Amino acid sequence: MNPITLHDKSFEIYLPENKIQRAVQRVAQNINADYQDKTPLFLAVLNGAFMFSADLLKEITIPCEIAFIRVSSYEAMNSTGEVKEVIGLKEDIKNRHVIILEDIVDTGYTIHALRQNLLDKEPASLEVTALLQKPDCLKHSLEVKYLCHTIPDDFVVGYGLDYNGLGRNLRDIYKVRP
Ligand code: IMP
Repeated sequence: MNPITLHDKSFEIYLPENKIQRAVQRVAQNINADYQDKTPLFLAVLNGAFMFSADLLKEITIPCEIAFIRVSSYEAMNSTGEVKEVIGLKEDIKNRHVIILEDIVDTGYTIHALRQNLLDKEPASLEVTALLQKPDCLKHSLEVKYLCHTIPDDFVVGYGLDYNGLGRNLRDIYKVRP
């Protein structure tokens, strides 16, 4: 597969669409089994999780709800670790079974801060589902209960993930070339 260029960087294919879809289906099946009769509320973290959330929800066969939130700004190729307020959460999550949908867990700061914020609102349960995790970068001990893929410490784009705004539309996931 030919490399692509976004802004000043070149990227090569890393996870093809069919591999992503297989992992999404596996995770959805696990959620379907674990949340029967619980009517979970998915909270998809924008912007990065939009494509992952859409594909995952198509595989969810139990009654469920979804809402979209934003938590942080993320600049260029380094995570700032700064998390701003949670924006867009209008649902009352008290006593609800909440599942966060995140694109990628890097240092874990974003999810850690989001979890703290949501736990204050007393959900019945709170779990994290992520498309990708970079275990080598984790700075917070946190459990991602449902995970599609672990990846090395490479910057990736595609399937919702961007490099300075570009690349979210790509069907496959690409990693930056050295
Ligand atoms: P964390 O707070 O360090 O875990 O960073 C999580 C957020 O950083 C994700 O939701 C992404 O928006 C962004 N991010 C981390 N790594 C990458 C990457 O390789 N490509 C694109 N965005 C990334």
